[in-house]
Amino acid sequence: MPMDAVMYRTIEVTPQPSGFGAEISGPDLTQPLPAPVLEEVKAAWARHGVVAFPGQAMSLDALEAFTLQMGGFGSDPYIKPMSGHPNVLELRREPDEKATNFGAGWHSDWSFQHAPPAATILHSKVVPPVGGDTLFVDACCAYEALSPAMQQMLAPLRAIHSARQSYGSKGVFSKETEKRTMQIIVSEEADAALTHPLVRTHPVTGRKALYVSPVYTVGIEDLTAEEAKAMLGFLFAHLTQAQFIYRHKWREQMLLMWDNRCTMHFAEGGYDGHLRLMHRTTVSGEVPA
Ligand code: SIN
Repeated sequence: MPMDAVMYRTIEVTPQPSGFGAEISGPDLTQPLPAPVLEEVKAAWARHGVVAFPGQAMSLDALEAFTLQMGGFGSDPYIKPMSGHPNVLELRREPDEKATNFGAGWHSDWSFQHAPPAATILHSKVVPPVGGDTLFVDACCAYEALSPAMQQMLAPLRAIHSARQSYGSKGVFSKETEKRTMQIIVSEEADAALTHPLVRTHPVTGRKALYVSPVYTVGIEDLTAEEAKAMLGFLFAHLTQAQFIYRHKWREQMLLMWDNRCTMHFAEGGYDGHLRLMHRTTVSGEVPA
């Protein structure tokens, strides 16, 4: 009997073949979850990093209520939220949009914040017939695959994170000319930077994960720019190897929740001519350690 069948009493968990990512059936996320169900959902999320709940016809109110049950709202900067729902972002790309789809670069959400979100929750309303998958990297497995010597070398390092490459005064969005439905807020505030441990320890599982991404990591403290570029280049190539990636295929009315503390993700395009519509919230997190 698979281990998950033994572990869970209130939900059914079907892990992806690698164990990274799982589908969960049983709970009705449109209703408040009883404590034992919530506990098992949180346990499965910690264990598998990315959990998908198919067939959840969530209203915005239900999405907000589920987010609160998971730990409370994170703070989402640089994107105008939905009217009347300050904690919900609408990820909407119209069929005629030519601007690059939102999230099309490897990142862990808002890692430039002092206490980045533990989770991101994405609910699919309209899924295009082609493209639009979301890819995830298992940053724990990627860390564990490094040699002990490399792990030791990385242990004391702090990576520099900033939103500047995307939302800063000279960032990608500041130069955008194509029409975009989502309202992005370019800001000088986004030019700021802070540091986090390059290897962070997951507060629930105790596993270590590489905590860097091409979108938000702009250097490594105490290394020269050249040294940091070489080291980050190696780490980005290492992280994005096929064996660490789970490709998520969407179905409509599916809720996906991922753990930003041990994953990076990438929103794939390939659906020009089709609408893609998602609602997104974040769950507040702790200071990485
Ligand atoms: C994101 O949150 O980065 C976007 C993910 C997606 O739209 O698939």
